[in-house]
Amino acid sequence: MTAPVKQYRIGPKTDRLMHRAMTIDDAAAFYALNSHPEVMRYTGEPPLRSVDEARDVIAAYPDFDTHGFGRWGCVLKDTGALIGFCGLKYLDELGEVDVGFRFLPEYWGRGLATEACRACVDFGFERMGLKRIIALVLPENLASIRVLEKVGMRFDGEVGYEGIVALRYVVEAARGGEKR
Ligand SMILES: CC(C)(COP(=O)(O)OP(=O)(O)OC[C@H]1O[C@@H](n2cnc3c(N)ncnc32)[C@H](O)[C@@H]1OP(=O)(O)O)[C@@H](O)C(=O)NCCC(=O)NCCS
Repeated sequence: MTAPVKQYRIGPKTDRLMHRAMTIDDAAAFYALNSHPEVMRYTGEPPLRSVDEARDVIAAYPDFDTHGFGRWGCVLKDTGALIGFCGLKYLDELGEVDVGFRFLPEYWGRGLATEACRACVDFGFERMGLKRIIALVLPENLASIRVLEKVGMRFDGEVGYEGIVALRYVVEAARGGEKR
């Protein structure tokens, strides 16, 4: 018998954000995020077509059951609104854990992605015991690259993933008292 996977359905808290697994009650907000052309521009994914499709995607999201972690919804503490997602995802094809994020455009430029990404990376190292976290990003996605650099990730070459050539950024867990 294999041990049950430890579940991290609640992610890190930051000054402005809470992170938690999304539920079908988040379908409208998830649709607003994942159907927005500016948000989807560099993701390599097709936009969602309806709230119903968003509900189906959330309901079938396997990551928390399979790996114990996944992309968390980012909830703005001030308003309780779900304004994006950020979190960790195990990529089978690469055998690596990836950090990824997406926010509604009206919240861009306030440092929220950096705040969320840093917290998720720290959570992965400190709470989940990960040794290495990567991020995949298209070369044209300069804002995203800037976020990765601000949280201390470094460029680590190109990698093919799901038929797309992306830039890989990487960060390793600090060793014995070292500050990342
Ligand atoms: C990428 C994204 C998450 C950034 O969110 P954000 O909350 O605005 O990010 P932050 O405010 O924390 O930081 C953005 C940084 O990028 C910089 N930036 C923004 N647009 C830029 C551009 N076109 N060129 C260069 N830098 C840019 C900002 O100036 C800021 O850096 P600074 O703090 O040094 O000034 C947001 O743009 C987004 O959701 N994009 C669509 C989804 C996406 O592409 N996700 C990533 C897939 S890999």
